[in-house]
Amino acid sequence: MADQKIYRASTTAPVNIAVIKYWGKRDPSLNLPTNSSLSVTLSQSDLRTHTTASCSSTFEGPDTLLLNNAPQSLSTARSLACLKSLRALRSKLEDAESSLPKLSTYPLRLVSVNNFPTAAGLASSAAGFAALVRAIADLYELQQSPTELSLIARQGSGSACRSLLGGYVAWDHGTRDDGLDSRARLVAPKSHWSDMKALILVVSAAKKGVSSTTGMQTTVQTSSLFQTRTKEVVPKEMAEMEKAIKSKDFATFAKVTMRESNSFHATCLDTDPPIFYLNDVSRAAIKAVEELNEKAGRTIAAYTFDAGPNAVIYYLEADEDAVLKTFLPILRQKEGWGKMDTKIDGPGPASPQVVEVLE
Ligand code: DP6
Repeated sequence: MADQKIYRASTTAPVNIAVIKYWGKRDPSLNLPTNSSLSVTLSQSDLRTHTTASCSSTFEGPDTLLLNNAPQSLSTARSLACLKSLRALRSKLEDAESSLPKLSTYPLRLVSVNNFPTAAGLASSAAGFAALVRAIADLYELQQSPTELSLIARQGSGSACRSLLGGYVAWDHGTRDDGLDSRARLVAPKSHWSDMKALILVVSAAKKGVSSTTGMQTTVQTSSLFQTRTKEVVPKEMAEMEKAIKSKDFATFAKVTMRESNSFHATCLDTDPPIFYLNDVSRAAIKAVEELNEKAGRTIAAYTFDAGPNAVIYYLEADEDAVLKTFLPILRQKEGWGKMDTKIDGPGPASPQVVEVLE
């Protein structure tokens, strides 16, 4: 009798926020980056994608994906590349062990839920593809390590490769044409530096204007700053950042994080046509961090911004009072933050969220 069972696996994957930014592809179809990057993986209790993957011979039609209840296309080259690689690994297992059900041939039903704004510069594609790959790998009972799975997630969305690992994670750009050395690497687990915290200022929940994929391609084609950034700036910052993380040197971690965010956004501005991800609220957050550090007489907070206006402020737990004292009253009092944002980016209240670094 034919296999009528429904097979199912659920997982969650966290958001990661880069302190050294990935911006530029040397191979767009394989998602191979022009430079290495490094991120901090955030706690899953705060920002994550939850994905359930099911498959059955009784399911009809093509594979499907629901994200926050809305049907999404799985026929994009990126999604197809992920599904193909995962099916190939399952198929190898099935060839080696003939009693295994032929899950690789069954249609997939994927259901994902984000607990944060999708595509508002909060790395939703990172958590999304990491969860998709992990859920299907679990469904197929694949034995590949997170680093090996990061090669697959990278093809879905570059930054997703870093969300397969927790703690402080590098994505080495690699030099091979087939991309097999372009994958995530653990720099340090959360336990190494566990008092790191992130305050996320969701200044706009609106979708970003220029997607990362499109933005970085235009930058590669038009920005002259980009060449210096990729060849000279980022390699130096990567080395300094890894050293800072290994020696738990927050002042250097913070300096490099802020410098890197500014270098990335300067490159965006140097793109033709220019790309503006920061808004007035973002710039107010930068100023607030600068004043906070100045007042403290040492560097206690660092800002960084991805492809959107939302600020992520990194700080150490011991300095939480000072950091929250700076940001919470501003957010509460200054209705302007919300209002300004409403005018610029559409609705979305300014809601601060403190999140922890994930193990
Ligand atoms: C600014 O990973 O979203 O967040 O590979 O085209 O899907 P694609 O791009 P994506 O780009 C992220 C860019 C960034 C920086 C970073 O996370 O490193």
